Amino acid sequence: MIVLKSAREIEAMKKSGEILAACHKEIAKMIKPGISTWEIDQFVEQFLSQNGATPEQKGYKGYEYATCASINDEICHGFPRKEPLNEGDIVTVDMVVNYNGALADSAWSYAVGKVSEETDHLLRVTKEALYRGISQAVPGNRIGDIGHAIQTYVESEGFSVVRDFIGHGIGSVIHEKPDVPHYGLPGKGARIKEGMVFTIEPMVNIGMFYTKMDLNGWTARTVDGTLSAQYEHTIAITKDGPIILTEQE
Ligand code: MF3
Ligand code: CO
Repeated sequence: MIVLKSAREIEAMKKSGEILAACHKEIAKMIKPGISTWEIDQFVEQFLSQNGATPEQKGYKGYEYATCASINDEICHGFPRKEPLNEGDIVTVDMVVNYNGALADSAWSYAVGKVSEETDHLLRVTKEALYRGISQAVPGNRIGDIGHAIQTYVESEGFSVVRDFIGHGIGSVIHEKPDVPHYGLPGKGARIKEGMVFTIEPMVNIGMFYTKMDLNGWTARTVDGTLSAQYEHTIAITKDGPIILTEQE
């Protein structure tokens, strides 16, 4: 069942999204060679608590950290760790903020120092793919229109879209209906309606889209060892189109 949200509920999620966006903007300033994802995770805990919010991922299905920190060939759900980031790495920081019971979810990939031209291309394409998906999230369209726009664009740039992890409805819990794949066919899937709130979060690989799971049971990485990037926003559907609740401006 897809739960539609009232304007008041969307307003509450927007406040949560504003805190999340502000947190990402601080992280952007911190990312450089030598810093660790452990330090970033500690910073997020502190930032959220100073803003009266809590990290919803911590404790979710036994997950132990405020953030997911996925480095290079890690696709998603990497653990924050003490090893420093190196020049040329990319790292995706993903978090869910809870502010007064309203949630917002946003992941962002960051370049560490100077990255290669190919890596920069991956980051640009993945971010553009997110915004192309969002532009399809209008009432009357279908969920498949979002995935189709993302997939055709990503593949036209020579990259692949991960199939094993998808966007999702979000509200008082992290994962609700609808499922939002980042691939698919136009005109297919659930009709997009005013009041829906969901994430769009394409994971894009330089090589093949296949994933493999680490022994920790959480972290997914590319089978071929190529880099993977991700950008995620939480969006609300209004009669006039999507509002991005986690926009960083
Ligand atoms: N933020 C993730 C998503 O986009 C949820 C991660 S669940 C966790 O779906 F437990 F790994 F944190
Ligand atoms: Co997320």
